[in-house]
Amino acid sequence: MDNRSIGLLDSGLGGLTVLEKIADRMPEENTVFIADQARLPYGDRPDAEIKLFTRQLVDFLLAKDVKVIIFACNTATAIAMEDMRSEIEVPIIGVIQSGSLAASRVTKNRKIGVISTQATAKSHAYQREIAQRLENDVEVLEVPTPKLVPLIEGDEELLADNPALKESIAPIVNSDIDTLILGCTHYPLIEKQIEQNLADDVLIIDPANQVANYTQALLEQRDLLTDSKEVTREYYTTGDAAHFSAVVSKLLGANITAGHAVVD
Ligand code: DGL
Repeated sequence: MDNRSIGLLDSGLGGLTVLEKIADRMPEENTVFIADQARLPYGDRPDAEIKLFTRQLVDFLLAKDVKVIIFACNTATAIAMEDMRSEIEVPIIGVIQSGSLAASRVTKNRKIGVISTQATAKSHAYQREIAQRLENDVEVLEVPTPKLVPLIEGDEELLADNPALKESIAPIVNSDIDTLILGCTHYPLIEKQIEQNLADDVLIIDPANQVANYTQALLEQRDLLTDSKEVTREYYTTGDAAHFSAVVSKLLGANITAGHAVVD
């Protein structure tokens, strides 16, 4: 048994979509979540910067004495996870293997689409993971959609007929994929709007479901599940803590007070 927290990191609100699945699956586990909103978006940045920022978030979580770290960010998973895994002892769980596994299981025509940040698309991390699972007998259409994260983090509600959304996902809409991976953790926040633009038979995959399965299995195997009766949930942002608290409270339907984090 281990009563330390599960740590989660993202550049912004997207990581909350992973946190929600973790909390649904393991409601008794303590969590610490950090969002690097001061430096968002990560997806347009050079790899070296993404690695540096991710390392700083990892250090913040290690200082909170977490027992496992979930990269609730595809960009950090694609660019920084391999290096970080070799540097720290605490296990790191990413989102790309999980998303690839889930999509590989359900695709029938072996044509899978992935929408993601520029950095994730450029890394071809999804392409590699899926090709391994389906023995290359698969087409992976990786589409960068960099306009979406700033819109999702903005204060305006994003509607299904938003021109930037339509333009971003046009290559997916005009393709014959049967499965679409939401390859950025922000995108489940607009899943309905995306779905409204797709043909009815396209299945949408949110990797977070499989991440929750995997995290639970890992904690069980390593005897790291908690037996504490009191749950603590901590939220931090490098940005404006009052604004973040209000947005998170609305998204999660609870009264949340986030702290301000300094990570550099
Ligand atoms: N939510 C992040 C992801 O899953 C990154 C968004 C960004 O900062 O560009 O890739």
